[in-house]
Amino acid sequence: MQHLVDTTDFSDIQIAQLLHDARTFKAQRPPQLLRDKLLITLFFEASTRTRSSFEVAAKRLGAAIVHLDPSRSSTKKGESLEDTFANLCAMEPDGVIIRHTDNDAPQQLAQMQMTSVINAGAGNYAHPTQALLDLFTLTEHFNGQIKNKTIAIVGDIVSSRVASSGIRLLTRMGMNVLLVAPEPFMPQSDLPQYEHLEDVLDRVDVIMSLRAQLERHASPLFDDYAEYAKHYCITKERLKERNILILHPGPVMRNIDISDEMLDDPRCKVLEQVRNGVYMRMAILKLLLLDSSH
Ligand code: CP
Repeated sequence: MQHLVDTTDFSDIQIAQLLHDARTFKAQRPPQLLRDKLLITLFFEASTRTRSSFEVAAKRLGAAIVHLDPSRSSTKKGESLEDTFANLCAMEPDGVIIRHTDNDAPQQLAQMQMTSVINAGAGNYAHPTQALLDLFTLTEHFNGQIKNKTIAIVGDIVSSRVASSGIRLLTRMGMNVLLVAPEPFMPQSDLPQYEHLEDVLDRVDVIMSLRAQLERHASPLFDDYAEYAKHYCITKERLKERNILILHPGPVMRNIDISDEMLDDPRCKVLEQVRNGVYMRMAILKLLLLDSSH
């Protein structure tokens, strides 16, 4: 039984297989490879992209999917996460897809070894399927040649599980990662750190912009996000004609993270990331439920 708690659970060969399968699924209508499989989702935090992307991916491959809404579940009566999970596993799913505020929740459930656990975002620690879909988007754009390309991660890095998983995966794949943020948003890290976006614009191939994760701040870090935007918003005025790919995991805070104008610019791949997310999640489901289950 294989789990996906973070991308470190996958070997280099498996990551290459995921990229190959995602490309194949994007190029041609996939067969119903998972038609006898059942998945359950358990999202303790809000989601637009990840939950629906997993559902579309599962259905495109013929799998059934059931959603448990924790806000209307017996966790409200005091049932623990472990007991909730064990009861769902008694229904014999082939995998449980979990999003949780707690960094350790997916690992704790994976250790119970009852079904394959797929991390759909945990605290500020890991969001492996986002990292893998971003890797897919980057390899497509650069025709597989991402080694030694430079990416700047910009924004609320310290709160971001997208940044945590992305840094681990993209450095492993040979990319140079720079961090750009005001001091309250900067994590402890050995990576090069910058306060000013202007200092990196002439040497990056990619910018990954991140939302200020207000829901994770114990108290507001900035009084005024318009002031933050003056320094960190990705605008056409700031980018000029530079050939820089713009990524963002969503949801985008318009005109704070990225300007309206840049969101419509062909360099901005936000919706392509969402499109690629379905194909990468199809590849992940195939790997976990079919290829590694023998
Ligand atoms: N990228 C991402 O995790 O988006 P959602 O929170 O909408 O799932």
